[in-house]
Amino acid sequence: MDPRYTNVIDLNDMGTAWWLGVVELASKIYDDPAKYAKACEGKIMATLFYEPSTRTQMSFQTAMLRLGGTIIGFDNPATSSVAKGENLKDTTKIVSGYADIMVMRHPSDGAAKAAALTADCPIINAGDGGHLHPSQTLTDMLTLYREKGRLTDLTIGLCGDLKNGRTVHSMCKALAGFEGVKFVFISTPQLGMPQYIKDILKANSRPFTEEASLDAAIPQLDVLYMTRVQKERFSSEEEYERLKGAYCLDRAKMAKGRRDLIVMHPLPRVDEIPMDVDDDPRAMWFKQASYGVYVRMALILTVLNDPHHKTPLITGKIHNGVECANPNCITHKERYLPRYFRGTDLLECEYCDERTLN
Ligand code: NCD
Repeated sequence: MDPRYTNVIDLNDMGTAWWLGVVELASKIYDDPAKYAKACEGKIMATLFYEPSTRTQMSFQTAMLRLGGTIIGFDNPATSSVAKGENLKDTTKIVSGYADIMVMRHPSDGAAKAAALTADCPIINAGDGGHLHPSQTLTDMLTLYREKGRLTDLTIGLCGDLKNGRTVHSMCKALAGFEGVKFVFISTPQLGMPQYIKDILKANSRPFTEEASLDAAIPQLDVLYMTRVQKERFSSEEEYERLKGAYCLDRAKMAKGRRDLIVMHPLPRVDEIPMDVDDDPRAMWFKQASYGVYVRMALILTVLNDPHHKTPLITGKIHNGVECANPNCITHKERYLPRYFRGTDLLECEYCDERTLN
């Protein structure tokens, strides 16, 4: 299906040159923000947040306001017609007619793509369930670009809830294309990286190892990316309680890291990094969050300056009667959605990338 707009749903739809363009523009804006103060005058951005957010929502809003544009939207679907039972298609179709660009966060995997099927403006995915979070990945790339000076030749440890964390899924998919990047997945078997992400790394000949111990992994790392255990993605409270304290980056562990290590975290943190580590010069989480505004300014500008980028929205076919194997896929909630899948025997859901046997 031909795209009508430049939708930023999955960074891999756009390609490395496009992301580097955004990261380089963000870095220029960081150095001279005043130059861009009127770049979006007269433009309206809608933020539809069906799920809690602090940084992503406010940094997108700050970005548009700093570009001279204005914002509309909701951060609590209970105060919109969603509370009256309105479906995703109708809400996003209507709001996309009011705005020039729409930023959306939703608890279901694949929701941003579902909205893009019918929206009348470009959509940016601000997090869809446990699936992807492209604007966070661009923020992480700007952090690497400015703090390590490169996006290649890096050993990156990802620690915590690799199963449910959309930030780490997005990051691995994107950095799979960069030379010399090696991943160390630090997690328990219950919180391990999904197979489909490992398969993407294998297909790109990108090496990764799996390690249960943060102590053992930290000495070899250039970058450590910590994540919280994603409470809201667990079906049982007991399971969450059992796993939530699995990793804690305390000062003793930091002492084992290299002097030029940088430690990132998309935030919010719960108990995986004690606050007495904040003053370590290798702690990047607050700076990383501040880079998010400049990345989102660059992202808004890039999309609005090229609103009709030719990335196909759907490459597969409709398979009526096949249900996606992922229980959190948007197709299970919004039943009118066409069941688009890529492939033939092993069908890959167009919305959430989960694989289902035909
Ligand atoms: C992340 C998210 O929402 O996925 N937060 C963010 O956007 N900075 C990480 C998280 O919630 O753990």
